[in-house]
Amino acid sequence: MMKAKEFIRDLKTLYKLTMQPVRGVSHQDRLESFYSSQAEDYDSFRERLLQGRRDLMASLELPGSCRWLDLGAGTGSNLDFVDTRNFSEIDLVDLSGSLLAQAEKKISLEGFKNVKTHEKDVSDFESPQKYDLVTFSYSLTMIPDWFRAIDRAYELLIPGGQIAVVDFYSSRKFNPDSRTHNWWKRHFWPMWFGFDNVNLSPDHLPYLKYRFQQKDLIEGFAKVPYLPLDRVPYYRFVGVKI
Ligand SMILES: C[S@@+](CC[C@H](N)C(=O)[O-])C[C@H]1O[C@@H](n2cnc3c(N)ncnc32)[C@H](O)[C@@H]1O
Repeated sequence: MMKAKEFIRDLKTLYKLTMQPVRGVSHQDRLESFYSSQAEDYDSFRERLLQGRRDLMASLELPGSCRWLDLGAGTGSNLDFVDTRNFSEIDLVDLSGSLLAQAEKKISLEGFKNVKTHEKDVSDFESPQKYDLVTFSYSLTMIPDWFRAIDRAYELLIPGGQIAVVDFYSSRKFNPDSRTHNWWKRHFWPMWFGFDNVNLSPDHLPYLKYRFQQKDLIEGFAKVPYLPLDRVPYYRFVGVKI
C-alpha cells in the first residue's frame, strides 16, 4: 500500500518536473513557479535524486560550536544529516518561500533553537558575522550567478573556514586533472536537467578548485529514479579558505 502511495506521489512529482512550464520574470518568481506545487513532496523524491548529501556532511571535520551557512537550503534537508547540537548557529538561505516554509515546519517540529531561515538571494546575502562552514547542496546548478555565489561564500567564511559542495556537473571536453565524461554524458544530462533550469556546468568545479584549497574531492555517478539507462555525474568537493 505504501509502495503504491509512494509511486503515485512520484508520478505527480515527475509530471511537475517534466511537464509543468516554469513561468515568471524574476528568478524568484520562476523558482516559486517551479517549487510551490512540489514543496510538500520535495524531500521524499529528492532523497533518491540528490545523492551524496549525507556522505558530504558526514565527511566534514568541523570545530566545536561551529557557525554554518547553508546556501540554497530549500526545505532544510541537510539538517537531517547532522547533529544540530554541534553547531552554535545555522543559517538557511533560499529564495523560495514555499521551500523555506517546509524548513520552518521542520525547525519548529524538532524544536531547533539555533536554526534561522532567510528568504534572500544567496548572491547578495550579508551577515555581520563570518562562518566556519558554508555549504551548497544541489543549489549551485540552480543559481544563475553561481560565480558571485561562490565569491560570496568565500567572503562569508573565516580564514581556515570550509566550503562543502555536492552537485551534478559535466566535465570539460579536455580535463587533464579531473574525471573526463564521454560525449553522451556531456550533452545528454545538461540538456535533460536544462528543462528544469538546472545548469550542469563544466566550470563550477574548476572555479571552486581555483578559489579554495582542495581538501577532498569525490567524483561519481548517481542513479536517477525511473531512468535506468544511464547515471548522472555528480561531485562532492570540500575546500578551505586560505
Ligand atoms: C535542488 S534545490 C536543493 C535544496 C537543498 N539544498 C537540498 O539539498 O535539498 C536548489 C535550491 O536552490 C535555491 N536557489 C536557486 N537559486 C537561488 C538563489 N539565487 N538564491 C537563493 N536560493 C536559490 C532553490 O530555491 C532551491 O531551494
